[in-house]
This record gives sequence, C-alpha cells and structure tokens, in this order.
Amino acid sequence: MKALVLEETNTPLIYKEVEHPLESVGHQIVELRAAALNHRDVWIRKGQYARIKLPVILGSDGAGFAGDRPVIINPGMQWGDRMDVQGDDFHILGMPTNGTFAQRVSVPDNQIYDMPEHLSFEEAASIPLAGVTAWRAVVTQGQVKPTDRVLITGIGGGVAQWAMQFALSKGAHVSVTSGTPAKLERAMQAGAHGGYDYHDVEWTKHAREEGGFDLVIDGAGSTGLAQVMKICNPGARLVIYGGTAGPIPALSPQVLFWKQLHIIGSTMGSPSDFQDMITWIRDQRIVPILDRVFPLEEGSAAFDRMSEGLQFGKIILQIPA
Ligand SMILES: NC(=O)c1ccc[n+]([C@@H]2O[C@H](COP(=O)([O-])OP(=O)(O)OC[C@H]3O[C@@H](n4cnc5c(N)ncnc54)[C@H](OP(=O)(O)O)[C@@H]3O)[C@@H](O)[C@H]2O)c1
Repeated sequence: MKALVLEETNTPLIYKEVEHPLESVGHQIVELRAAALNHRDVWIRKGQYARIKLPVILGSDGAGFAGDRPVIINPGMQWGDRMDVQGDDFHILGMPTNGTFAQRVSVPDNQIYDMPEHLSFEEAASIPLAGVTAWRAVVTQGQVKPTDRVLITGIGGGVAQWAMQFALSKGAHVSVTSGTPAKLERAMQAGAHGGYDYHDVEWTKHAREEGGFDLVIDGAGSTGLAQVMKICNPGARLVIYGGTAGPIPALSPQVLFWKQLHIIGSTMGSPSDFQDMITWIRDQRIVPILDRVFPLEEGSAAFDRMSEGLQFGKIILQIPA
C-alpha cells in the first residue's frame, strides 16, 4: 500500500510503497479515504516530541471503511478506567504505532465509530483529535452554559475551531482571538460574536469593556493567557489544552484568588467524550471547517502549510482507494 513515511526528523515525508498492516485479533483494518493533520504531526516531524520512534507513518485522524461500514477512528488509545484523567498506558495513534497517512491502518475494534451520515470522508477526518480535545475542553471540563461569555484564543488552530463550533452550538456568546485579521473575519462569518487581534496591545481593554469572559479555552499559553486572566469575570474557568506560544509568565496569585478563578488542564478525551461528541455533531448536523485538501502524495506541502500557520480550518489529506 501507499503511505507517507517519516524516516528522519527534519526531513520531508516520503510517499512510498510499504507493507500492509497485519491482521490481528481484536483489531480491524480500516481502508482510509481521508486523514487530517494536527500540530502534533508537525512537532514530531521537527523532532520536538517525546520518545520519537522512527520510521513511522504519522497521522492520528482518519475516516474510511471498516468492511463496508463508513467509520472514523478515535486516536486516543487505552484511556484507562478514570474518566477525570487518562491512565499511564494512554497513547495516540500515529507514533509510536503507525497512523492514518496511509491506505490502511490497523486499529483496535473499540476505537472505531460510525461516521456521521451528513459528512463526507474529508469532513469526518477532521473530527477526531482536534474535535475530542475541543469537546472535553468546552463541555466536559469547561461546562459551557448558554449564559457564558466564552473566549477562544488562536482561532486559526484546528482545536480552536472545533471549540468555537461546540460553544456556539451550545448557545454561548463566543469571542475569538487571532494574529491574522482575515481569520477573525472568517470566524465572524462562521458565527463568532466578537474577534480581537492579539497583536493589538489594547485588545484586552476593549474585551473588558465589552463584558469580559466566563470561560476561556486556550491553546497558546504565554503572556497572552496571563493578560486574559485579568479580564476574566469572577468565578471564570480557564481551560488550557495547549502551549503553542510557550510558558505562562507572571501569573498573578492576587488575580487568581480574588476572582476565585478556576484553571483547568485538559487533554484529548475519554471514550465517552468521543461518543458524546460524535452524537452531538450528528444530532446538530455540524459541518467542520476545512482549510485545504491535499492528495496524500503531496503530504509534505500540507505539513509546510501547517508549519507556517497559514491555515483556517483543518488541513486534509485525500487518500487514493
Ligand atoms: N491537550 C491535548 O490533548 C492537545 C490536543 C491537540 C492539540 N494540542 C496542542 O494545542 C495546540 C494547538 O493545536 P492545533 O492542532 O489546534 O494547532 P494549529 O491548528 O497549528 O493551531 C495553532 C494556532 O495557535 C495560534 N497561536 C499562535 N500563537 C498564538 C498566540 N500568541 N496567542 C494565541 N494564539 C496563538 C494560531 O492562531 P492564529 O492563526 O489564529 O493566530 C495558530 O493557528 C498545540 O500546542 C498542540 O500541541 C493539545
């Protein structure tokens, strides 16, 4: 079969012929039709990820056929028994085990879910990793309510966009930030109520005047988050799922304790988060925002697009049958 293989970090991925995955008890072979990129794939390619094992077929997100059943794959493997936190054996499909940037992948039976009928394979492939991370952050950890004023930072990000769609579909008032004004425009067209350029030094002042925030969903960290804390409303929840911009300096204990803020970490999602998310997407007929679709063999160009932060929506790889 054809696959995109990472043989060495900091080198282009190679589109080549590889062995089919082996059949094994308790696993199914999924014939993939589409896959999606996550920043994780880019970190691994750059060598900036723990315990990298090479060569490997990257890719955590995939949609295709298990037999004649259209399915999507939950890439969060062996979550464990506790619903509040993953166990020690938790790992993500697509390194160390071979992932979805290939014509076929072998996955445990219980990681396979029916694909929502209203979506194409390309749309469905955009859901799994970013979707479940956003669902857990907004719904399970963030406990979003229709009365909440929600801020989602870095709306160009894949998780951020799913977070926006979930928060809007739950009836909340949703504002977003971005470093690119055109992405703010796109977010407003997709239903966001407000947008702020995080390069504008005055943006937090405007946001405070407009009513502050009850729930913040952040994947960037850094000084931006410390500033956002100051414009949070009393009792606000700040859910952190990523640290794209780096560590958070100068976190003020006074702001934290006086406003009685809740800072909550969030990682991917449990099997029940995944099932609840799929059910919600199906029932609400939510359609994902896609950036661009590349053929699998042009996967390296898709990685470059994500590395440069050019995307708005998920970057998809179309996989030949
Ligand atoms: N905890 C988990 O389970 C989990 C799961 C998935 C991802 N993550 C992490 O979450 C982060 C985002 O992942 P992703 O796949 O959504 O990545 P992505 O699609 O590449 O998004 C990254 C986004 O970060 C935003 N950004 C960059 N600098 C920023 C800043 N100073 N302030 C605010 N936003 C900034 C940019 O938004 P604009 O283009 O709009 O400026 C960019 O589009 C990564 O760090 C990733 O490792 C964690």
